[in-house]
Amino acid sequence: MLRVMVLVSGGGTNLQAIIDAVASGTITNTELVAVLSNNKTVKSLERARNAGIPAISVSPKDFESRAEFNEALLAKVDEYQPDLVVLAGFLVAIPEAMVHKYNGRIINIHPSLIPSFCGVGYYGLKVHEKALERGVKVTGATVHFVNEGMDEGPIVAQKAVAVEDDDTPEILQRRVMEQAEWILLPQAIDDIANGRIAVVDGKVKRLK
Ligand code: GRF
Repeated sequence: MLRVMVLVSGGGTNLQAIIDAVASGTITNTELVAVLSNNKTVKSLERARNAGIPAISVSPKDFESRAEFNEALLAKVDEYQPDLVVLAGFLVAIPEAMVHKYNGRIINIHPSLIPSFCGVGYYGLKVHEKALERGVKVTGATVHFVNEGMDEGPIVAQKAVAVEDDDTPEILQRRVMEQAEWILLPQAIDDIANGRIAVVDGKVKRLK
């Protein structure tokens, strides 16, 4: 069983897609061991509790320095001994010590086709605002492994989504979630849990 810990900051619709996929057997060989948020009050923690998954928070507000927060975050993750850490809308930069310790064991979902609309400043609704500003006709979502760079680790999976003429950032965000994110992220977890992918020379290869 792959021990999966999900890190969240917001509403947690991606988390819900993962919870549902485990419950329905779309994701197999996986145990959701904990959900952690940097924000005590988010809906994500409620979703976790409703599913009987330990819901915990580690907030930067409770620490005097970023370094102390980073240490506490890593200690909390370590406590659950996850085989895989899933960043599902986690708006905190992952401490370098954690990236190194969990090298090849952290994945993130980003709501664009990387390398478009990613990197510093591209998060949440901003990604979709920028895509609309540029007038792209296709956008999408990407699941990637996390390394020291921002949105730069090996790409696990991508899915394209059409942009429509009258889209607002909110409408586009919703379509990208429905047509890409909520499908891609559970699939990626299932692939990892069942040993279907591996990173070879910095790229993700499908094994069977
Ligand atoms: C998603 O669009 C995800 O790609 C991005 O943050 C959003 C989180 O949404 N990183 P939710 O909390 O899963 O509803």
